[in-house]
Amino acid sequence: MNYILVTGGAGYIGSHTCVELIEAGFNPIIVDNFSNSEKFVIDRIEEITGKKPILLEGDCGNNPWLTDATKKYKIDGCIHFAAFKAVGESTKEPLKYFENNIGSTLSILKWMKTSGCKNLVFSSSCTVYGQPDILPVTEQSPKKPAESPYGRTKQMCEDIIEDYYKSDKNIKALALRYFNPIGAHPSALIGELPLGVPNNLVPFITQTAAGIREKLTVFGNDYDTPDGTCIRDYIHVVDLALAHVSAIQFLINKDESLVDFINVGTGVGNSVLEVINTFEQVNGVQLNYEIGERRSGDIEKVYADASYINKILCWATRKSLEQALEDAWRWQKAINKRAYKI
Ligand code: NAD
Ligand code: UD1
Repeated sequence: MNYILVTGGAGYIGSHTCVELIEAGFNPIIVDNFSNSEKFVIDRIEEITGKKPILLEGDCGNNPWLTDATKKYKIDGCIHFAAFKAVGESTKEPLKYFENNIGSTLSILKWMKTSGCKNLVFSSSCTVYGQPDILPVTEQSPKKPAESPYGRTKQMCEDIIEDYYKSDKNIKALALRYFNPIGAHPSALIGELPLGVPNNLVPFITQTAAGIREKLTVFGNDYDTPDGTCIRDYIHVVDLALAHVSAIQFLINKDESLVDFINVGTGVGNSVLEVINTFEQVNGVQLNYEIGERRSGDIEKVYADASYINKILCWATRKSLEQALEDAWRWQKAINKRAYKI
């Protein structure tokens, strides 16, 4: 039946991945405790695909429960999204982040051993590279000391998975290092649901355009970049979801065990001002913004060398920055219409 366990499958990237898994013929089994997501997302996945994913509501860090709840399925692979991800909060409550992000990963590895599931895709982040010395960033770029407990959990989980692999050569694992996921499903039925004031650029832009925030502050325009603002590699969340489908297919078809680390980005960097201008242009909306101080801890520029993922997973981005910003705005308008609490 090709069941895939998707921890955190009701979240932003997880929900888009469940849609693409279903479209590709897989049966996602979502494990989510809804600590940072809403239950209606499960119905929305059904609305988009015509198929309701199986939901196991609970904490994937609770291994006895997980093992018990999944006993009746033969699960071919696991995509482990579940984690806390707020960088600022992680500096104030580091133990919460170590407990959830490391704890859930340990629990999943134990679950793989007992369930016999061999294939793991892990959600990592380009944050493991810090400010790289050479751009674009290849997978060989050295990891830099983490800027936050959140970033450290990603580095630690990568190390834990690698160490575990050395002890159990039956497993096949890929850690996908995401660059900056943005946008939403074109149906505007699922998208990002930031709690409180968003830290990330695109949700702040859409909420400002919607009048929820008064003004966007551009964090610094005196960086060593063409227009002085920071550069990132923004990837459409649907493209990122498709990378997970390719990754899980790759692992299932692979005979030999492996552990590997793969950048998932477009290979193109865009500045903050380029994102703002593109958003205004494609959506015909004017954004209220001002130039402010630099944000402490910000990386000046980072974008992926995507040649490894292009080659190994035969995957490349299909969607443009324009489409991502159109979809992000369509999603924001849909949230407003339904008066979803923000
Ligand atoms: P999200 O918060 O929208 O989704 C995470 C989901 O996991 C939520 O539905 C939450 O309820 C659930 N969850 C958290 N802890 C859980 C637990 N112990 N048991 C069960 N469910 C749990 O986050 P996202 O943006 O979809 O990110 C998914 C993954 O990708 C995370 O590991 C995140 O660190 C990583 N990542 C995200 C980004 C980004 O910009 N969004 C960038 C790089 C890496
Ligand atoms: C943040 C996280 C990083 C995580 C990544 C992907 C921090 C320090 N880092 O990085 O760990 O992997 O998200 O989700 O939080 N910007 C503004 N004004 C705003 C918001 C952002 O100018 O109101 C700028 C930032 O300075 C940055 C760019 O927009 O240059 C993107 O910011 P953001 O969306 O927060 O992503 P990252 O900084 O890449």
